[in-house]
This record gives sequence, structure tokens and C-alpha cells, in this order.
Amino acid sequence: MKILGIETSCDETAAAVVKDGLRILSNQIASQVEIHARYGGIVPEVASRQHILAIIPIIEQAMTQAKATWSELDGIAVTIGPGLAGSLLVGVNVAKAIASAHGLPITGVNHLEGHIYANWLIGQNPELIPRFPSICLIVSGGHSDLVLMRGHGDYVLLGRTRDDAAGEAFDKAARILGLGYPGGPAIEQTARNGTASLKLPRAWLKGTNDFSFSGVKTALLRLVEEDKVSSRADAAASFQEAVVDVLVTKTVTVTKEHRVKQILLAGGVASNKLLRSRLVENSPIPVLVPEPILCTDNAAMIAACSYYHFQAGKIDSLDLDVIPSLKLA
Ligand code: KG4
Ligand code: ZN
Repeated sequence: MKILGIETSCDETAAAVVKDGLRILSNQIASQVEIHARYGGIVPEVASRQHILAIIPIIEQAMTQAKATWSELDGIAVTIGPGLAGSLLVGVNVAKAIASAHGLPITGVNHLEGHIYANWLIGQNPELIPRFPSICLIVSGGHSDLVLMRGHGDYVLLGRTRDDAAGEAFDKAARILGLGYPGGPAIEQTARNGTASLKLPRAWLKGTNDFSFSGVKTALLRLVEEDKVSSRADAAASFQEAVVDVLVTKTVTVTKEHRVKQILLAGGVASNKLLRSRLVENSPIPVLVPEPILCTDNAAMIAACSYYHFQAGKIDSLDLDVIPSLKLA
């Protein structure tokens, strides 16, 4: 089964063709990062205009790279939320137009569920397929969720951030340190030349599986304002250490409370090397992590996820609409 996936929820215009929910035949991403970097963050109106400009060429490139014709496709998958309304609308309308023109079934996909399914993009080695139940840690620019996944499309929310998402915290910390946008990769790179020598607080929120990252960001801001940061590399390393410490400790704790087979790491922050290695070192069970390019926003993960929608007969009508604040569970 070949599915064309379309993703426009934030600042990447992406299209991909995936076979049987596992094998990437093409994966095209047009990033708007350089455009938004000038403003220090995403400007929603600019994002939707860029999606309109990029979407058709990106879909054509995905079809060409996959050597696929429209008649060979079995379905269209598109992100319907969560995300920016104006951005989501571009993908959903193009997806509906293609579905209607070519008589293909369409299914709307939750962006966060898509991130989890990046773990299914394993090519042809069936031994690597994730098993249930699993604990999922989804860490992106807008979300930090700990979820128990009991089966395809079956999620129980165990914990979430009460304020900033992990990626958002990285972005804000990078701004405080003058490292530019997007902040995650900038902090990670700068941290390589430093040591985690600054004392930054961790919000443990004991007795819950929730996260809070606004305190560590404010603590960093104070140190900068009081001129107590002599090395940006040390500050970046300390901040990264504080966020990763909390994410790993809380994920391992919740893992021990459930009889699960593995941990699935997902979302843009999952491309962070310290988070990946620290979680693997500390987890009592196997940890699956998509390759970095599949952690940040892409359409292959949307197509992968939709395979299980189509298998379960979850097909949408052409009334399909965006849901900007869509929840996973
Ligand atoms: O999943 P994603 O691409 O988009 C959303 O759904 O939000 O995640 C983007 C977020 C940004 O906040 C970015 O700073 C963060 O992921 N990120 C990272 C790294 N790469 C991206 N955070 C830490 N370390 C990284 N290497
Ligand atoms: Zn995302």
C-alpha cells in the first residue's frame, strides 16, 4: 500500500510517499527556518504564505523521487492538527483537492501521533517494529507528553508540560543566550564546547508525571541579567543538562510503573544527542529513536501513521477540516 503524506502544521512544508507504513519511498521537506530566523521565531502569516508557495513543488518532488504515478497511490494522509490554523489549512485543502481529483481515500492525521510513528519507519527489517504496550515521550516545539501507547491509535496521557514545551524552552534559552533560532540545534552545538557547570534548577513536580520548564529558563535569564554567565558554552551545556535530566528521570520513573516493552522517543527534541544517549543509558528496557531527520517535522511519519488508519477503515470525507488544538489523548 502506497500513501502520499502531506505535512504543513508549522514551518516545514513536507510531502512523502511511504509503502506499507514502514518503507520511505520519498521524503521531501522545504524548511522555512531561514525566513523565520530573521524574526527570531515563527510568524504564522508568513508561514502559511510560504506553504502555499512550496506545497505543489514539494508534492511533485515527492512523487518523482518515489517514481510513483497517481494511479499507483492507495491513499492520501494529511496533518489536521495540532498546529497553526493557517498553515494546516494549506495542507488539508491541497490533500482534499488531490483526493477528489484522483478518487483516492483521504485520512486526517494527528501531528503528535505522526511523530510517534516515525518509529515505524524502519525499512524492511520486521524485527525492529515497535511492540505494545510502549511508553512514548513526545518532545517537540509545542508539546512534552508522556503517553502510554497500548496499541495502534490507543493512547493514555500520563503526563504533560504545565508551561513551556521542551523544544520551546530550548528556543527561549537560545534567544536569552543570543544563539539564534531554532534554539535546540544551536544550544546542542554550543554546548559541545562547554561543561554543565552552572547550577540550574529542576522542577520535579513529585507525585506527578508532569513537566515544567519555565523555571529553568527564568533561572538562566536571571544569571545572564546579573552578568553571572562568563561562557555561553557552559550556559548552553548546563541548560541542556537540566532539561535532559528531568526528561530522562521522569520517563524512566514512569516506565518502571508500567509493564511496557519499550520506550519510543519522538518529536524534534528527540534529535538531541544527549537526550538520546542518556535515555538509552538509563532505561531498563529498549529505547527506540527515529533517525534525526525523522524526529523533526516531516511527512513520512504522517504517511506511516495513516497506514494504520486505512487498515482500520478510518477514512475521512471531503468535509475534513483542521483542528489546531487537537489532542492526542
Ligand atoms: O517536532 P518539531 O520539529 O516541530 C514541532 O512539532 O514543534 O520540533 C521542533 C522543536 C524546536 O523547538 C527545536 O528547537 C527542537 O525541536 N529541536 C531540538 C533539537 N532539534 C530540534 N531541541 C534540542 N536539541 C536538538 N538537537
Ligand atoms: Zn512536530
